[in-house]
Amino acid sequence: MSSTEIRQSSQTVLVTGATGAVGRHLVTTLLERGVAVRALTRKPEDAALPEGVEVVAGDLGDASTLGAQVFDGVDRVFVFPARGVDVFMDAAVAAGVQRFTVLSSLAAAMEFPRDHGSASQLHHSAVEAAVTERTAGWTILRPGTFANNLLEWRFQIRSGVPIRAPYVESAQAPVHEFDVAEAAAETLLSDEYVGQIIPITGPQAVTRAEQVATLGAAIGREISLSEITADEFRSEMGQYIPQPIMKMLLDYWSDTLVTPDRARPVTPVTGKPGRTLAEWAADHRTDFMIV
Ligand SMILES: NC(=O)c1ccc[n+]([C@@H]2O[C@H](COP(=O)([O-])OP(=O)(O)OC[C@H]3O[C@@H](n4cnc5c(N)ncnc54)[C@H](OP(=O)(O)O)[C@@H]3O)[C@@H](O)[C@H]2O)c1
Repeated sequence: MSSTEIRQSSQTVLVTGATGAVGRHLVTTLLERGVAVRALTRKPEDAALPEGVEVVAGDLGDASTLGAQVFDGVDRVFVFPARGVDVFMDAAVAAGVQRFTVLSSLAAAMEFPRDHGSASQLHHSAVEAAVTERTAGWTILRPGTFANNLLEWRFQIRSGVPIRAPYVESAQAPVHEFDVAEAAAETLLSDEYVGQIIPITGPQAVTRAEQVATLGAAIGREISLSEITADEFRSEMGQYIPQPIMKMLLDYWSDTLVTPDRARPVTPVTGKPGRTLAEWAADHRTDFMIV
């Protein structure tokens, strides 16, 4: 079915993770393209989704919440990679859904030794298997690091406390959530991508020091950054960051000091230039300012 055909049909696209960063923009993109959208959330009362979206309550890991109200009239689903997604997939396939676009991670590609057995690889490989073992109608999106990870520095930036970070000269290619969402929309509206695994990164590899400077330019003030060692980071942040995540982050930053992330200037699927970090920072200015 072409995108024109799905727009004209009575079918509905179910978006899980619809209140998340990717999901919200996916919902908006589908609505703009004239598609009927149902959004799944555990807290419909807090969803604050746009007019025209049908919001349903449901938990991806709880079969008792995944009944006809979730799947009636749905033939395509955006799958958010929550724990327990195998429960959701059982319910969706039993309800007759035939097409799935899955949000995974580039870690599942296991391109680098650091990915093998990392927290992200183990989780996202299991999510991918939960889908591909149950249906042939899948498309997998594997984004690299999200620009949204910079929101971790929101408190320091808002309050003017210097950022303390290791490996400030390591370079990553952060991806804007809008580019992931727009690629997801395209794969849901076309059958061209069935059976494809699609890596998505930002358009440029940018050092962590440059990332901080880019945020500073967006908010119109210099942000103070102090480089610390990996050991200092471990001892300062170890109580907040679980050990497997800590290892994954430090491995990633130390590797990308030597080999910067591969950037893709054009976003796969959409064929458009990926949004730059400066564009992301402009879109998120208010997250870093006291308003
Ligand atoms: N951070 C990275 O660098 C990176 C890189 C590659 C891939 N990823 C993947 O992208 C994900 C983040 O995407 P995002 O930023 O769009 O998400 P997000 O803003 O963190 O939002 C999480 C979404 O997941 C939904 N959710 C979580 N558990 C659920 C459950 N059990 N049942 C139903 N809904 C559930 C939440 O819905 P409600 O709370 O409304 O129920 C919410 O909509 C990560 O978790 C990771 O898997 C991240």
